[in-house]
Amino acid sequence: MDRYLVFGHPVRHSKSPFIHTLFARQTQQELEYGLAEPAVDEFAQALRTFFDQGGKGCNVTVPFKEQAFTLVDCLSPRAKRAGAVNTIKLTDDGVLLGDNTDGAGLVADLKSHGVTLADSRILLLGAGGAARGALAPLLAELPSELVIANRTHTKAQQLAAEFHDLGPVTAQTYEQLAGPFDLVINSTSASLQGELPPLVPALIHTDIAIYDMMYSASDTAFISWAKQHGARQTMDGLGMLVEQAAEAFTVWRGIRPGTKQVLRELKRNLGVI
Ligand code: ATR
Repeated sequence: MDRYLVFGHPVRHSKSPFIHTLFARQTQQELEYGLAEPAVDEFAQALRTFFDQGGKGCNVTVPFKEQAFTLVDCLSPRAKRAGAVNTIKLTDDGVLLGDNTDGAGLVADLKSHGVTLADSRILLLGAGGAARGALAPLLAELPSELVIANRTHTKAQQLAAEFHDLGPVTAQTYEQLAGPFDLVINSTSASLQGELPPLVPALIHTDIAIYDMMYSASDTAFISWAKQHGARQTMDGLGMLVEQAAEAFTVWRGIRPGTKQVLRELKRNLGVI
């Protein structure tokens, strides 16, 4: 049977095996999908061993995405732009192809929530790996403006300069930000510590869409804060998780699974509904 897995550390609580097993059942594909948690300095060896032993493809998550970028034989254009790899496929020619489906997953999830990206003003919070992966797919949707704000402003400036050729992207400090924005995407890891990016409440209005790339069983700190200040449409990163997985599955199997039912099952599994 074709074997796939996700590399990460820690990865024990990953939902990817659950999601891909449902995709395989739905599309009647014969495959198994597992977990691998190599020590941080043993990822390269573990990856090699997996493919030497007949593995067909894998996902890569924290903290290995940047390292995976350097270990594959060739890169898709979107992985090259993202500077990170979350999906690897062994091609029929024996080449390890590195791809990145995170940004496509974000855009697909935003669209499935009915969020309009074309001609919109988008505020992207954070300038780490998650922001980098999102930039090209967001700019491809032709927003009128995309502003990056980050605690360390120089990192936002560097990212804006790097993606400037793809669209109207600028960097502003949190203090400089002037609304109205149509969509705010939180790509920071602040919610992980229950912290908030230092955004002024005046930027939140009833028609704004709020997206937190993090997810948890209850509202993330950022989503609670936004709701408290009047945001009516809030979304967390669970849909993005399922959509990036669907994109990876499509890369591997050449068949696109449906995501709605799988997202529902995942929510039930997590006790969210
Ligand atoms: P990831 O790969 O998930 O993007 P990362 O590369 O470590 O993770 O980036 C984390 C991002 O969250 C950074 O933009 C970080 O800001 P700095 O560049 O200033 O470190 C941001 N971040 C983390 N905690 C934050 C907080 N409490 N408030 C605001 N931004 C925060």
